[in-house]
Amino acid sequence: MTNKYLYFVANWKMYGDLKALNSLDKVIKFSKSIKQKKIKLIYCPPSTLINSLSNKLKKTKIEVGAQNSHESDKYGAFTGQINSKMLKNVGARYVILGHSENRQLGEDNKKINSKIKSALKSGLKIIFCIGETLKEKRNKKTNQVLSKQIKMGLKLIQKKSSIIIAYEPVWSIGTGLIPKPKDLIKSISFIKKKLGKKPYKILYGGSVNSDNIKQLKNINTIDGFLIGGASQDPKKFIDIIKKTIN
Ligand code: PGA
Repeated sequence: MTNKYLYFVANWKMYGDLKALNSLDKVIKFSKSIKQKKIKLIYCPPSTLINSLSNKLKKTKIEVGAQNSHESDKYGAFTGQINSKMLKNVGARYVILGHSENRQLGEDNKKINSKIKSALKSGLKIIFCIGETLKEKRNKKTNQVLSKQIKMGLKLIQKKSSIIIAYEPVWSIGTGLIPKPKDLIKSISFIKKKLGKKPYKILYGGSVNSDNIKQLKNINTIDGFLIGGASQDPKKFIDIIKKTIN
C-alpha cells in the first residue's frame, strides 16, 4: 500500500438498526489503539442511523457517510428523497454516489454527475463508484465503460480534491470474487490515466474480506477499500484493517 492515507469505508447497505450501532464499540476501541496516523475509517450506514451514529462517534476519529443523495441541493417536493444538505446537517461528511446497486435501479452517468455536483455544493466529500458488469468484462469493454463513467460522472466538476474514486467491478460485489491482481493493477492504472494529473485517491471495492485482503493490500496503487458485507461484522472489519496495516 502507499504511505498516504489509507481508507476503510464501511458500506452497510440496507442493513442495520439502532441496536447494530452497539457493535461499533469494538471498532471504536480498536481505532483508538491504532498507532498509524494516516488511517481513515468511514462508516456509511442507512440514512436512518446517520444522526445517532455521528453522535456516537463524536469523540472518535471515525467519520460518517451516507449511501446516496438526491441531485437537488434545495428542499423540495420529492417524497421519500433526502438531499446532501440534509445529510450534512445530521452529521454525514461523505456520500457514496454511483454505486452499481443504484445504477441498476436506473441512475445513469448524467444523474450521478448532478448528484456529485449537488453534494459538493453541500460540502460533502464524494466516494464515486465506477465499475464494469460481467458482460462488459467478457466483451472486453471494461476500459470503455470506466472511461465513460469517469468522463460523464465528473463532467464540469472543479472541486476534484473532494472526490475519492471507488473501483468496484459489479461482478465482484457480494459474490466472493475479486479481480486477478494483474487485471486490477491494469484497471487502476487505466483509471489513473483517465483522471489526469490530479492525485485522486482510488479505493477498491467488491467482496473484500479478511482472507483476500492479504493479496489486495500488496497492490500499492490502491489507497484503501470500500467494504460491504464484511463491514457489518466488527470482528471481520477490524481483521481486514489489522491485516492491511500490519
Ligand atoms: P461487498 O460490497 O463487499 O459486500 O462485495 C461492496 C460494495 O457494494 O460496496
